[in-house]
Formats: sequence, C-alpha cells, structure tokens
Amino acid sequence: MSENFDVKLDGKSYLPDPSVKENSWIGDYETAYNEFLKDPEKHWENVAEELEWFEKWDKVREWDHPYAKWFTNAKMNITHNCLDRHVMNGKRNKVAIIWVGDDGKEEILTYRQLYREVMRFANGLKSLGVEKGDRVCIYMPFVPEQIIAMLACARIGAVHSVVFGGFGANALHSRIKDAQAKIVITADASLRRGKRIDLKTLVDEAVVNASSVEKIVVLRRMTPQMELFSEIEVDFYEIMEDVEKECEPEVMDSEDPLFILYTSGTTGPAKGIVHACGGYMVGTYYTTKNMFDLQESDVMWCTADPGWITGHSYIVYGPLAMGATILISETTPDYPDPGVWWSMIEEFDVTIFYTAPTAIRMFMRMGEEWPEKYNLSSLRILGSVGEPLNPEAFEWYYRVIGKEKCPILDTWWQTETGMHMLTTAIGEPMKPGFAGRPVPGIVADVVDENGEPVPAGTGGFLVIKEPWPSMMRTVYNNDERYRQYWSTVGNYYAAGDLAVKDEDGYIMILGRSDDVLIVAGHNIGSAEVESALVSHEAVAEAAVIGKPDPLKGDSIKAFIILRMGYTASDKLKLELVYHVRMNLGPIAIPSEIEFVESLPKTRSGKIMRRLLKAQELGQDPGDISTLED
Ligand code: PRX
Repeated sequence: MSENFDVKLDGKSYLPDPSVKENSWIGDYETAYNEFLKDPEKHWENVAEELEWFEKWDKVREWDHPYAKWFTNAKMNITHNCLDRHVMNGKRNKVAIIWVGDDGKEEILTYRQLYREVMRFANGLKSLGVEKGDRVCIYMPFVPEQIIAMLACARIGAVHSVVFGGFGANALHSRIKDAQAKIVITADASLRRGKRIDLKTLVDEAVVNASSVEKIVVLRRMTPQMELFSEIEVDFYEIMEDVEKECEPEVMDSEDPLFILYTSGTTGPAKGIVHACGGYMVGTYYTTKNMFDLQESDVMWCTADPGWITGHSYIVYGPLAMGATILISETTPDYPDPGVWWSMIEEFDVTIFYTAPTAIRMFMRMGEEWPEKYNLSSLRILGSVGEPLNPEAFEWYYRVIGKEKCPILDTWWQTETGMHMLTTAIGEPMKPGFAGRPVPGIVADVVDENGEPVPAGTGGFLVIKEPWPSMMRTVYNNDERYRQYWSTVGNYYAAGDLAVKDEDGYIMILGRSDDVLIVAGHNIGSAEVESALVSHEAVAEAAVIGKPDPLKGDSIKAFIILRMGYTASDKLKLELVYHVRMNLGPIAIPSEIEFVESLPKTRSGKIMRRLLKAQELGQDPGDISTLED
C-alpha cells in the first residue's frame, strides 16, 4: 500500500526560543543525530557508560536479524541505578515521589525512603518464595506501592507484568495465565472520582483456573480493613515486617527479562511484550535525559498510569534512573473540578508535563478559564503521547498551557519500542500534526510494502531500520509473532502505523495500518472486543470498528448478529455494554451498537472491517475483490 494521502505538509511551524537549547543535554539536534550516524554503537556505549554496571559488556550490540542483544554479558540491576546510585551519591534526601490521591491525600517519598521500602518489599516477596525469573502480576491502583512493587520485583530479578487497574477480570485472567504468574499483587480498591472500585473481587474472579498463582498480596487502603483468606492471601505491609532491611540487588544479565507488558494486537489475545534489563535501562534513561531534557531541579509529571508503557518508561524507570523528582497522581483531570491538574502544577512547581491528546482535547472543551486560574509559570517542557496531537490541540497546548514558551514534544513510540522513537527535540522548529524526526540513536523511515522509501508527501509504512537498545526481545510464548514484526515490510521493524514524511524529514502519523483501535490513547484490539461480545449468550457474531471521535481518537462501534431466539432491543445493548465492561474494562466499551443481519466477509471468512468502516464513514471502500458476496 502506498497511496497519496491528501495531507497538508506545509502547515505552520513554531520556532521555540532558541535559548532552550543552550544548556540542554541534547544541544543541537542535527549535530547529535549526525554524531550517532557516524558510529551508532559508540553513541549507545557512551550512554551506557553514564550508568553503573557490576560488570561491563563484551560487545555493545549483537544483531542476528530479527534478534538483537545489547551490552552482551554485562551484569547490572536497574534498581541499583534507580536507587542505590542516588542514595550513595548525595541524593538520599531528595524527593523521589510526590503522590496525590483521588481524595487529595498526599504522600512523599525521598530516595532513601523509596529505597528502604523497595528492599523490604523485595525481601517480603522472597519470603513468599519468589525467585529470579518468576513472573509476578501487579494489578493495583495508582498508589506509590505500585511502583514499590515493580521495583521490588526488578530488585530480585522477578519479571513483573503490570496489568492496568482499569481492566476487567477476563483481561486480567488471560494475562495471569499467559505469563503463568506465581504471585498477584493487588489492593482492596481503587478510587476514581470519589467512587470506590473493588479490585480484589476482580482478582478473585481472575484467579479461578489460574493454577500458577500461589499467593495474592493485598494492599489494604480502605477502612474497615478487608478480611484476608489466610491460605493464600497476605497483607502488603505484613510481608515487609519480619524481614531483613537490606536486600542486595540480584545480579542480572543485560539480556535477562525485566518485564512483560501486554498490548493489544490485530488478532487473538493481547501480546506479552518482553523487555530486557540492560537495553531498556539505557534507552529510557537516554530519552528521559535528552528528549525531556531532565535537569536536577526538575519536577516531572507524566499523567499516565504505570499500567501502560508510558508509565513504565517515563514515570518509573527513566526518571528514577535520572534521579528525578516525579509527581504521580491517582486523580482524573476533571474531578473534583477541571482545574485540579493545573492546581497541582502550581502547587508542586511541575516543570515537565507529559500527557495524552485525549486529555488536552478534553481541557480545550472545558475552557481556558480553568488553566487561567493557576500559575503555570514553572512549566518548561510539555509532552504528548498515545495518538496524533492534532494541530488545534497543539496550538491550544502551546498557547494556553505553555504560554508560547515551552517546547512541545509530540512523542511517537510503542509498548514494543520501550522508549521515544520520533519527536521534535527541544529547540527545533515544531510542526503541529507531526510527531517529528527520529531520536538520535534511531533510524526511522516511511516506505512501501517492499521496504523501499517513498517520496516525501506520499503515505507509507512507518519502519525502524536498525535495532535499538530498548526494543522488545520477543512476544512471550509467541516468538513467531515477534518475528512478524521484522518480516512484513522488507526486513525492517514494522510499527503497524501509516505515516508520511515531509521534505525536512518530519514524520506525521496517519493512523494504524491494522485493526488496532486507539481509544483515549490506549491501544485496544478489535478482536479482543469482538471476542468479549461473542462470549455473551445473545451474540452469534460481532465486528468492531473505530470511528474518529473528536475527544477520544477512536470511538468503538460494534455490529452484532444475534443468535436465534434473541431480539434486538435497547436493553440488550446496555447488557452488552456491561458485559464488555466486566470482561475487558471501561476503556473497551462500545459507544455504539448496531444489530445487523449479516457482516461483509472475505472468501476465506475474515470479516472485512475496512468495508464496514468505509460504509459507516461514507467513504470509498476501495478494493472489494475479495468480498465473498
Ligand atoms: O498508533 C501509534 C499510537 O499508539 C500506538 C502504540 O500504542 P501503545 O503500544 O499502547 O503505546 C502508547 C504509548 C507509547 C502506536 O503504534 N501512538 C503513540 N504515540 C503516538 C501515536 N500516534 C501518533 N502520534 C503519537 N505521538
């Protein structure tokens, strides 16, 4: 597929005050990029040298397409770099985490406190029999203990699999099963907009028929305290009580797995993306430092949840490896009022703010009067991630929040890439609608299906041509699926996104080339929603498409064929919505359901979602030669 997209490439560009480059880590982007091109391995080796390793590498990179190893035979532990390194080097009392709860409650942890908590919880996990290589599922609300749990796993070499607390029981069950998790760490409840959402009951449901699970660790934050079933349930803080205070970091090989994180695919269940210790550390450290230009005095607020890759890389590992102060928050952007986030920026002097276009568009709707009530002058750098930042939202973010002085980084990347891949480095001209150019260290391009570069202005597939340290190493239990990433478009890593490049090499993301939906910045497979729908007794067949939505990116529309004996009704629609909610969680709920008699299919029986979408949007359906009927 390579066709001409009618995209405006000559839109306005914004040039930030060039002084932002002056004392920045990255300096001049082109110089940095050309330096990298001269000696790619040296580029990454220099970054790795800034971190502490128990033993250095034999080789920076070993590339045996499609398998890469980075910093081979080096020994390290990411938590040594996120904690010990700072505690030993004068940052003992620096604030690591500032947390604000849904109810406004605050908690602060210095590096010393975080270090201590992580070590004790790590010993607690050991006391439950967790060993290096075991998988631990973390299904928690956004509280500091979630980060403590992640770091404690990394400390002892257990592989964490964080499942976003907004997912339902079935989604959790399939992730626990696929990873064969030994332990599930959860909490009694999460709080959202003043309401309590029970997590533990969902865990109870999810662990049925998941025989790998030996223990459930429960953080009890509510009163009265929830009863535990002592055979397999233990209290989060009780396991920290009678253990040693110190916990030496497990010596990890650079290539040992650090975590699994599930992401939605086109077909079948979610894919367990596996990241490796050394390369992931180097990649997230490098981009946090050079793209966000994180300095000693910064306060960084990334509004994602650690249940997504954005939280893994730019709340937890990247910023902590840099020894930064991070703000984290359980709050939603409009509760108790639409000024709550801006009030927190004022209150905590946030300097780097990283959020999603869907949030920015929501703020635009609520009006400028909300941010205008607060002093946002501490802000220095703004970021966006998850879906394209459309020019209107860019302009608003730049003017209303950044007061026309903050560079905006529209960062394109994926669960699979681990770190930022495309963006506009600070101090470079920003082009609204474009993610930007490759991060130094990354070779990206827009190509046709054979991997040949397409001319500027022509749409094509976004690919990464060379391996990079924080690339995924495999798909857990499905290496075949991993190899597909590197074999569908030439020999390159195919991101699954369509893009177009302009004359200056800036890349604009046009959307997915497959049936993955991006709803409010979250990646949801049409197949997952369909199989949740089909698991309802009334549904014979289901097809799901994404419809452009001014707020959410995509909104989900489902077409349903009912089983014999069931009749279409509004009540049934509500029941189906509820069913999806319970199975997959609130983010996967269809906003529209249409009952139909038949669905368009190919001769081989695949539902042609593309055709449904074209019909729905009144577009030309394109090639329909494979249509069965
Ligand atoms: O389609 C792209 C979109 O989100 C996908 C990756 O989703 P996920 O693995 O959940 O990671 C999201 C956070 C890194 C991509 O394939 N996407 C992400 N960032 C952008 C984007 N689309 C356009 N512009 C972006 N900045």
